[in-house]
This record gives sequence, C-alpha cells and structure tokens, in this order.
Amino acid sequence: MDGVRERTGLRKVESRASITEADDLDLSRLLQRPRLKLERKRSFDERSLSDHAAAGSLRPVDSYESMLSLGAMRSVLDTPTSSAHNSFEPHPMVAEAWDALRRSIVLFRGHPVGTIAAYDHASEEVLNYDQVFVRDFVPSALAFLMNGEPDIVKNFLLKTLQLQGWEKKIDRFKLGEGVMPASFKVSHDPIRKTDNLTADFGESAIGRVAPVDSGFWWIILLRAYTKSTGDSTLAESPECQRGMRLILALCLSEGFDTFPTLLCADGCSMIDRRMGIYGYPIEIQALFFMALRCALSMLRQDAEGKEFIARIVKRLHALSYHIRSYFWIDFQQLNDIYRYKTEEYSHTAVNKFNVIPDSIPDWIFDFMPARGGYFIGNVSPARMDFRWFALGNCVAILSSLATPEQSVAIMDLLEERWDQLLGEMPLKIAYPALESREWQIVTGCDPKNTRWSYHNGGTWPVLLWLFTAACIKTGRPQIARRAIDLAENRLSKDGWPEYYDGKLGRYIGKQARKFQTWSIAGYLVAKMMLEDPSHLGMISLEEDKAMKPPIKRSASWTI
Ligand code: GLC
Repeated sequence: MDGVRERTGLRKVESRASITEADDLDLSRLLQRPRLKLERKRSFDERSLSDHAAAGSLRPVDSYESMLSLGAMRSVLDTPTSSAHNSFEPHPMVAEAWDALRRSIVLFRGHPVGTIAAYDHASEEVLNYDQVFVRDFVPSALAFLMNGEPDIVKNFLLKTLQLQGWEKKIDRFKLGEGVMPASFKVSHDPIRKTDNLTADFGESAIGRVAPVDSGFWWIILLRAYTKSTGDSTLAESPECQRGMRLILALCLSEGFDTFPTLLCADGCSMIDRRMGIYGYPIEIQALFFMALRCALSMLRQDAEGKEFIARIVKRLHALSYHIRSYFWIDFQQLNDIYRYKTEEYSHTAVNKFNVIPDSIPDWIFDFMPARGGYFIGNVSPARMDFRWFALGNCVAILSSLATPEQSVAIMDLLEERWDQLLGEMPLKIAYPALESREWQIVTGCDPKNTRWSYHNGGTWPVLLWLFTAACIKTGRPQIARRAIDLAENRLSKDGWPEYYDGKLGRYIGKQARKFQTWSIAGYLVAKMMLEDPSHLGMISLEEDKAMKPPIKRSASWTI
C-alpha cells in the first residue's frame, strides 16, 4: 500500500475498490438512504429558512452527505463481491497529477498558502499565471482536503482574509471593504531574505475586471474546510466571522434593484474578459446563492450575526424564486416565450421583462431537446441571454438552487446534448460560441475569445470536478465516469492544458497554458469523488424545503 501511496501522491487514503457500472445502483441507493436518517438528526445545513427565522441555536456544521458515512460507503464498496471485481488500481495519471499539483504549491515564509495558476516554463508570457488565484485554488483546496491535508487550505483562508483587510484603490476610487482579491503573488526579496505579498483586486487585471466570485468562493471554501476537518473553530473565529460579514455586506446592500439577483459588470468571474455576461450572470447568481447558504450555516447567532442571518433568509427566498422561475428554460418554456405578447403593462403581465420573441436566437430551437432544461445565462429587461454556462448550472445543482426536478432536467440536457456540451473533452464553458458580427460587438473584437476558443465556447478541463459532483449528486456517476475517461485519453499527453478549442474540444487551446493547476486539481477531485462519493458533502447542500419551487411546472420536470 505504501508503494501505491508513494506513486499516487495520496496520503491517508485507504485502498478501496473503484466504482464500476454495477455499483451505480448501490451508489444512488446510498445517496438516498441518509435522507431517511435525516428525519432523526437534522443538521444545521438542512435546517430550513423558517427554522432560521425562528432563530434556533447554532449547531455544528453537518449535513446528510457527512452522514453518508465513509464507513457505510466503504463497507458496501469493499464487500468481497465488489472488491473481487474491482481491485484498486490507480490510473498512472493520478500520481503524475499529484506531483504536478505539489510542484505548484506556493510558500509564504515557509508555509504553504496556495497554488500558482500554471507551472508552464515553456510559455514566454508569464502574465499573472504565477499568482495564486482565489477561484483557481478551489479545486486544489478540495484535493488537499480530500487527501487529508487541510493546513494549506487553512493558511490560504487566513492569508486571503488578511488581504481583504487591505485598503484597495483603483486610481482615486476606494473599493468596498469586503472585496476579496482575484489573486495574490508571493515574491522573494533575496537581500532582506523575506517573502512579500502583493494582491490584485482588479487594479492590475486585464480590463480592470472585478472579481465578484472571489468572496463567494472564499465562503464556500470555508464551509468545505469546516465540513472536511470537523474543526469549526476557524469558521467561528472573530476574524472569519467578520470576513464573512464584510462580503455579505457588499452583496446584500440595498440599492435601486428591482430584482434579488446581483448586478455585475462584464468579466466578474471565471470569464474575466468582456463576453457579454454583464447584468445578472448565472455563474455569479449560483455562487451568490451557494455562498449565502454556506454563510447561513456558519454565522454565529450573536447580535451582528443575527442581523445578517435575517437578511440572508429573506434574500434566499426571493433569489431562489426569481432564478427558478425566470432563468429556467426547457421545451415548454421556450414555446411559451416564442408566443409571448409584448408591451404588457402592470402586474398582470405574463412577459414580465418584455422580451421580444424575435430576439430568441435561431440555434436554440434545434438545441432544445424534448427532455431536459437549464438555467439561461442572464435575464434582465428585454434581454434573455439563452447561452448555456456550465459552471452556473453545476453550482445550481450543488447548492440546490435547482429544484430536484430541475437538477434532473439539467443532467438530461447534458446527456441529450453530449456532443455540443462535452464533445471529445469535458467541458464546454459556454454554448454556443459568438461568431462574426456578434463576436465583434459583444467581445469588442477580442482575439483571445474567437469562436469556439477560450471563454467563447472553449472547453475547460477544470469543470470536470463540478460536473462529476453534479453527476454524483443526481445519482448518475456513470456519466461522470464517461467524461473522466475522455479526459484520461488526452489530458496528460497534452500537458494538462488550461483549455481546448473547437466545436468538439479536440484542439489544445490557441493560447492555452500547459500544466494549468486547476486542470490538474480538477481531475484529481473528480477521481477522488467518484471513488468516495461521501466527499461530495464538502461542496454540496441539501434541498431546503422552505424555499418553495414556483408553482408552474413544465413538461421537462416530470420524471
Ligand atoms: C484566466 C481565466 C480565469 C483564471 C485565470 C488564472 O484569466 O479566465 O478564470 O482564474 O486565467 O488561471
């Protein structure tokens, strides 16, 4: 076993049978079983919004996924029948990936604090790929947590918390107190023999884009750390409580909004260049929702905490209703929009946002399967961006922003439209690509975001972990396995690229970095979750029944 550990770079992970097709049934059964236990021991995560409104006392972070005990899972997977068929034989890529991930670790004054974005010595242009990006570190962090190495994650959470406390300015404009950096860099001063930190809050980033997702990922990671280690002292510390409140104060502040969704500028998330995602992009809305739910489970019930808890509860009600109703599209809904009347005044309007049916793009009529559906990219007055965005939809499943029926429909869509959304390499970041005049107008003629490249219909292997998590949560691990098989055909041979190009994702991206850390970590997390689905609990939240789904049901929702 030690030999295997050495080769794979795994620590503390016991040898166990890998999951095969035959085990899928057991798996989905296992995933359902704890729901029964739930009645007896409801955890804080699952406490409904109304419970919070009634202001009960705080209990440790825990949820059904953790009750999906490792013991129970292992005992099934390790039964003589299953282990006889599937001896644990790690793929050679796993060891290679661990080596590469460890090489990317960044030390600050001797302590690991994160991983750099890419370790690509061949590339002439380093740009900011030698920095620790908050969003890029998430899959690295999960890999370390799953492997029983939480220290680097704790250090990262504390380091970024310190950075949040810095005064941030762009030109003469002072940024909000709670803003978390997009990335930070550790540089070594050889004369003074000391390490220095610099952080980018958008003031150095190309296009001066705001990293709205960073704070949300920070909260989500804090919960993952707490769940994985069982150590709630970090989350309960005054520093972390304050950090959370500062992030929340930014996104819960009142303004001129008429919607509960969060208004953002272009380039505010993983898609950090102009790509027409300004407004209310689904990626941010899903992360916002998830971060609110995670914060709800970690905020202390002191005077300040209580105030935020009350605000979160209200916002979650409105946000879930809004997104589930207005961002959702399936065959039925598309047909309804196609037949919309326009110029409807007053509260009786059916076409609330005055969407003009002529603005529905042609591609969606063929793309929409009879079975399946998804959350569209953006909704605002007279504007529906019908593009598919993978991250937002996967996070919607993980956070239970999607109702169970909607989650099933999203997975159906992925299966029905495999060629378009996964192709030969998982996973397309957005679909379809913007071309010609539309590309010129929407991207501002961005040469990096040409059609089927980079953010514009490109394929990002990092998304594999989110996809795998969504597959496990919806009881379809066999689809994740299919995607992982595809990745294993090429990822290592191609040098772990940042992204692929082309309609089927067959070509290594035009300007893709090699040894991109989140491509490596994403693969490891996907593998580890499939081997031990109880890891899912770190990044998944159970449905909250108090958030009622909209009454209107479409055809695709009937299972
Ligand atoms: C690119 C990506 C962004 C990522 C960064 C570092 O800017 O668009 O999502 O965080 O590279 O990998």
